[in-house]
Amino acid sequence: MERKRILTGDRPTGKLHLGHYVGSLANRVRLQDQYECFFIVADLHTLTTKPEKENIELLADNVRSAVLDYLACGIDPAKSVIYLQSAVPEVIELSLYFQNLVTVPRLSRIPSLKEMAQGAGIEEMPLGLLAYPVLQAADILLPRAHLVPVGKDNVAHVEITRELARRFNFLYGETLPVPDVMVSEYGSLVGTDGNAKMSKSLNNAIFLSDDARTVEKRVMSMYTDPKRTSADIPGTVEGNPVFQYHDAFNPDKAMVEDLKTRYRAGKVGDVEVKQKLAAALNAFLDPIRERRARYEGQSGLADEVIYDGTMRMREEARATLSAVRKAMGMAAVWNRISRKAEELKKKRDKAGS
Ligand code: TRP
Repeated sequence: MERKRILTGDRPTGKLHLGHYVGSLANRVRLQDQYECFFIVADLHTLTTKPEKENIELLADNVRSAVLDYLACGIDPAKSVIYLQSAVPEVIELSLYFQNLVTVPRLSRIPSLKEMAQGAGIEEMPLGLLAYPVLQAADILLPRAHLVPVGKDNVAHVEITRELARRFNFLYGETLPVPDVMVSEYGSLVGTDGNAKMSKSLNNAIFLSDDARTVEKRVMSMYTDPKRTSADIPGTVEGNPVFQYHDAFNPDKAMVEDLKTRYRAGKVGDVEVKQKLAAALNAFLDPIRERRARYEGQSGLADEVIYDGTMRMREEARATLSAVRKAMGMAAVWNRISRKAEELKKKRDKAGS
C-alpha cells in the first residue's frame, strides 16, 4: 500500500535550536519510516517579515545550515525529500488561486501573524504576511500531503489549509486532500530566559550546533524560580524552565523526580540542578554535533541533498498544478486560444510554402 504523505518544514533563519527539536524535528525523524515525508525549507516565507536585501543574501547559507541540522538529527535523504521552496515556482501559482478562497477578516484574526509582525517591529500588516498561511497551505497541498506535524503556533495555519482544500474541492470538484494536523507533545519550548518561546531573535536559544561549553554557560545563567535566593528556600517546579528542560531532555526520570522533590523541599541548590541539566543536554547533543561536524566536512553534501529533493518535488508540483488547473478550468482558457492560433499559423505556413 502507498504510504501517506507528510509535509512540514522551517524558515531558514539560521541555525536550528532545541525548540525546533522538541517542536518538530523529533517527530519528523520518528515519522519518516511510516510516511513519505517532504521537508520544505521555506525561504519565501522569510520575506514576509524580512524582505531586505541583507536578509536575502543570508538565505543560501541559512538553507545549507538547516539541511545540515536536519541530517544531524537523523532525517535521511534516502527516505525523505528535503527541498527549497523558492525553486519550485508552482507554489506561487497555487497560492494565488487560494488567495481568492479566503477572506481578509478570516486571516486578520490569526494571532500568530500579529505576533510575527510585532516581533519584527512592523506596525502595519504587510499583504504578504497576512497571506503567510495561504502560502503555507500551498506548500502543504503541493505534494498533496495528508498530515502536517507542527508546533502549536502553526496549528491555525493548518486549519486555514483545511478550509482552503475544502473550499477548492467544493468549487472545482474533489482534487485536494484535507490534511490533518499533528501537534507536537511539547508544543513550544520556553526560552532560557523563561519568558517567551525559544527564539534566535530573543537571544534565549540553545542551538543544536552549540558546543558543550556554550551549552553549560547558557544553562548556568538560565532563568529559574526568582524567589529562591538560597538553596534552603522551597522552590517551584511548575513552569520553571530548568525543570521543563529536564522533562524534555533528561532520560533519567528517577533523577529528575529526585531533583524535583528536593527542590520543592528546599534541599537542593540551583547550581546542582543546572549542572545536571547541562550534562543531560550535552549527552543529548553529542551525537547530533558529531554527525553535523561529519556532514559539514563533506563539501557540497547539503547542496546536493536539497538539489535532489527539489528536483523530486518539482515533479510532484507539476502533477498537482496540472490537476488544479484542469479542475478549475484554467487550463482550458489558454488551451482554446492557443490551439486556434496555432492552427491559423500552420495554415498560413502551408499556404506560404
Ligand atoms: N510556518 C513554519 C514556521 O513557523 C514554516 C513553514 C512554511 C511550514 N511552510 C510550511 C511548516 C508548511 C509546515 C508546513 O517556520
